[in-house]
Amino acid sequence: MAKIVVTGATGTIGNAVCKHLLERGDQPVALSRNPASAASRLPQGVEVQAWREPQAQMAPAEALDGAQAIIHLLGEPISQRWTEPVKQSIRDSRVLSTRMLTETIAKLPEDRRPAVLISQSATGYYGPRGAEELDEQATPGEDFLAMVVRDWEQEALRAEQYCRVAVMRTGVVLSKSGGALAKMLPFFRAGIGGPVASGRQYVPWVHIDDVAAAMVHCIDDGGATGALNLTAPHPVENAEFSRALGRALHRPAVMPVPSLALKLLYGEMSVIVTTGQRAVPRRLTDLGFHFAEPEIGPALKRVLSQ
Ligand SMILES: NC(=O)c1ccc[n+]([C@@H]2O[C@H](COP(=O)([O-])OP(=O)(O)OC[C@H]3O[C@@H](n4cnc5c(N)ncnc54)[C@H](OP(=O)(O)O)[C@@H]3O)[C@@H](O)[C@H]2O)c1
Repeated sequence: MAKIVVTGATGTIGNAVCKHLLERGDQPVALSRNPASAASRLPQGVEVQAWREPQAQMAPAEALDGAQAIIHLLGEPISQRWTEPVKQSIRDSRVLSTRMLTETIAKLPEDRRPAVLISQSATGYYGPRGAEELDEQATPGEDFLAMVVRDWEQEALRAEQYCRVAVMRTGVVLSKSGGALAKMLPFFRAGIGGPVASGRQYVPWVHIDDVAAAMVHCIDDGGATGALNLTAPHPVENAEFSRALGRALHRPAVMPVPSLALKLLYGEMSVIVTTGQRAVPRRLTDLGFHFAEPEIGPALKRVLSQ
């Protein structure tokens, strides 16, 4: 039984990762700002420890000591109106917490350090890119999110002097319990969902179970180093995504959502749905990772039945 530390364990992805680790007999140790509430939200068997101020306080050494791996997921939610304080928090929660984590790893005795740090990243790294196919060699974007992600990755990669580091450029995670799909579902269920903006922007979707499985695969596979796109092999345009979701729900999905309305409603944050990336998981595929859900139709049907 290996000890695996998970930050952001109480979130949508963290919960799925903890379940996956428990199923294969590992011991997940969750770090949370609020351990009492975390304990009630996490599956039984997950140990919880406090990391109350990840942006300002080093990660607790006793929690990291002797862990085989650290899966670092925490971050201020992106899908909210981007006021200046929110933008600062989106950035600091990721960049500074990663720095604090690396500082603790550095201070551990060499034989007590983790073998690998799996650090969350996002396809937002590439910025809005139209129909260009993006593997891990593609250049970064220049908008707000791209710059946050670039700095977040750089902090994680500083830990390479102490252990193996994999940064997971994760796409739009399909889960009923959180993220973009959970927000769309009420509209599509009511029959008022449809393509967003031009509908031509790519959705780099990935099923939640594949996200958890790929992260765990990267713990075990010593070839998982540097940046890896964590997206299904077949990204689709937003219009096709909307049609597939309508079909999975047996509801019409023809009501277009104009980008101006989204801009008025959500401000700058609306770029996360009006633009996208056609990211492909070149490195994970080369490592032999098998996606259980490579196609959007079956992936949506399965997630809705879970
Ligand atoms: N979901 C997606 O589609 C997706 C796609 C690409 C990348 N990502 C990234 O993957 C990570 C996890 O995503 P998720 O959807 O699981 O997120 P989530 O459900 O919002 O959970 C994130 C967790 O981070 C902690 N957290 C929230 N705000 C924080 C702050 N200001 N400072 C420190 N900790 C904070 C919380 O844990 P405690 O309250 O227990 O401390 C929370 O449970 C995020 O960094 C996200 O940007 C997500």
